[in-house]
Amino acid sequence: MVHKQDVIVIGAGAAGMMCALTAARRGRRVAILDHAAAPGEKIRISGGGRCNFTNIHAGPKNYLSANPHFAKSALARFKPADFIAMVDAHGISWHEKTLGQLFCDGSAKDIIGLFLKELAAAGARLHLKQSVVSVERNGDTFRVKTETDVFEAPALVVASGGKSIPKMGATGLAYRIAGEFGLNVLETRPGLVPLTLDPAFLEKIAPLAGISVDAEVRHGKTAFREALLFTHRGLSGPAILQISSYWREGDEISIRIEPDKDFAALFDAARRENGRQSVATALAAALPKRLAQFFVTETGTERPLAELSGKAQAAVVDRLRDWRIRPAGSEGYRTAEVTLGGVDTGGLDSRTMQAKAVPGLYFIGECVDVTGWLGGYNFQWAWASGHAAGEAV
Ligand code: FDA
Repeated sequence: MVHKQDVIVIGAGAAGMMCALTAARRGRRVAILDHAAAPGEKIRISGGGRCNFTNIHAGPKNYLSANPHFAKSALARFKPADFIAMVDAHGISWHEKTLGQLFCDGSAKDIIGLFLKELAAAGARLHLKQSVVSVERNGDTFRVKTETDVFEAPALVVASGGKSIPKMGATGLAYRIAGEFGLNVLETRPGLVPLTLDPAFLEKIAPLAGISVDAEVRHGKTAFREALLFTHRGLSGPAILQISSYWREGDEISIRIEPDKDFAALFDAARRENGRQSVATALAAALPKRLAQFFVTETGTERPLAELSGKAQAAVVDRLRDWRIRPAGSEGYRTAEVTLGGVDTGGLDSRTMQAKAVPGLYFIGECVDVTGWLGGYNFQWAWASGHAAGEAV
C-alpha cells in the first residue's frame, strides 16, 4: 500500500513523537513508522520506569558534541518548562528527585500515553511493525519502503535513535541513511555506561560488589560528584556513568571517595581516643566496613593507629582523595544509555535539523552528535530537536 504524506518520521521514540506532534499540530499530514510493536519503548524503561523526562537546569553546557554550539538554538526554543507544561496539561504528577531531575510520580507509561493522546488529537498516524527496507529520493519526494508498505513525502525526518541497547530494537539505521545521502557520520561510542576492570583488579574489588558511596569521579578537567557503585563487573552508579561519556580506552580516571569527609582529621581524632584500634576500624567509622578494609589492604596499613606513621597515614588519605584507576573497557552498547557521536552536526542546520545538502531530510534525537549528561538531559534534547524539526517540516 502506498501512503502519500507531507512528512514521514522514522522512529516513534521521544524525538520522533515530539516532531510528529509538532508538525501535525501545524496541519501537516504525518506518518510515523517504527519497526517495534509499541511506541516509546525507551521512554517506558527510562528512569527506572518513572522516566526522568527533563532536567530543569538543562543548557548547552550539559551536552557533548564536536560542535558545542549546535544544540543552543533548539534548546533555547523548547525549554524544560515547555515540556513540564505538557506534562501538567495531562495531569501527570511529578517530582524533582535530585540535581534538577524531574521524574513522573507514577509511571513512564504516562508520558507515552500523553503522546498517544496528543498524536491522535492532532491527526498524526502511527504505523508500527514497519521495518524499513530502503529510503530513496525521486526528485523532491522521499520514498520509504518497508516490508509491507510504501510511504512518500517531500519531508523525511530520521528519528531512529542510536545503537544503545540493541535488544530493544536499536539498529543504527539513522547512520546508514545519513551515509546514503552523503552526510558525514562521526565515530559512535557507548555513553552513560558502566566501566569494566581487568580480571586481576576485578578479583581485588569483588568483595565490594553492592557498595555505593558518595564520590567525585574525574577525567582530565571534567568531574562529577554523585554516587559510585561497585558491581560484579566493575564500576557503575551515576558518577561513573557520567564520566564514561568522557573516558576513552586506555585513559585513567581519578576517584575521590566521600569528598566531604576529612580522613586526616578522622585518623587524628581516632588516635587520640584509642591508639590501639586498627586503621581499618578507624576508617570504618566513615566508610562501609568492606571498603575501609579494602583501602587498608591496598595501602598495606594493617596495624594499630598508634603504629601508623605520618607518611603511611598520608598515603591512605591520598589514596582516598585521588584513587587512580585505568578501566579495561565499558559494558558497551548492551547497557549504554546513549550513543555518543553520530550524524555530524556540521551537515545540519541547527535551527531546523535539516541536512544542509539534502533539502527535506532531517535528523533529530540521539542519532545526532549531541549527547546529554545523565539526568533528563537526553530526553530534553529529544524534545527540543524534535520540536525544532516539527516546526520546520
Ligand atoms: P529512541 O531510541 O527513543 O527512539 C528510536 C525509535 O526508532 C525506537 O522506537 C526504535 O524502535 C525505532 N527504530 C530504530 N531502528 C529502526 C528501524 N530500522 N526501523 C524502524 N524503526 C526503528 N534519558 C533521559 O533523559 N532520562 C532518562 O530517565 C533516561 N533513562 C534511560 C534508561 C535507559 C535504560 C536507556 C537505554 C536510556 C535512557 N535515557 C534516558 C536515554 C533516552 O532514552 C534516549 O536519549 C532517548 O530515548 C533518545 O530518543 P530518540 O527518539 O532519539 O531515540
